[in-house]
Amino acid sequence: MNREFAVCRLDELAAKGALAVDLGETRVAVFLDGRRVRALNETCPHRGGPLHLGQVEGGVVRCPWHAWSFDLVTGCSPANPNSCVAVYPARVEDGTVLVTLKDPARPFAAATSSR
Ligand code: FES
Repeated sequence: MNREFAVCRLDELAAKGALAVDLGETRVAVFLDGRRVRALNETCPHRGGPLHLGQVEGGVVRCPWHAWSFDLVTGCSPANPNSCVAVYPARVEDGTVLVTLKDPARPFAAATSSR
């Protein structure tokens, strides 16, 4: 069953550009890419780098640890389509950023961290 979570205010995301939030056992990186919000799994599949701390350019985030890149829409590396992170539906309603997870592992207390 899918569950939608309120993760932050849009103005907070706009001020920071990106942030990370724990939704149960899933750590999600949330980005403002132009006027669209995007949500990916926070953990880089290479060695666990924090993707929300990466630089975003052209709709791609570059991991801050070793520069692997992931498309914010597909979650896959432009250089290696077999290297991907999970992407999650994200939207804004009444100034609140909402992210949907499929079958979240357990109830959560949202905890947000930023750059
Ligand atoms: S941990 Fe992300 S590129 Fe190495």
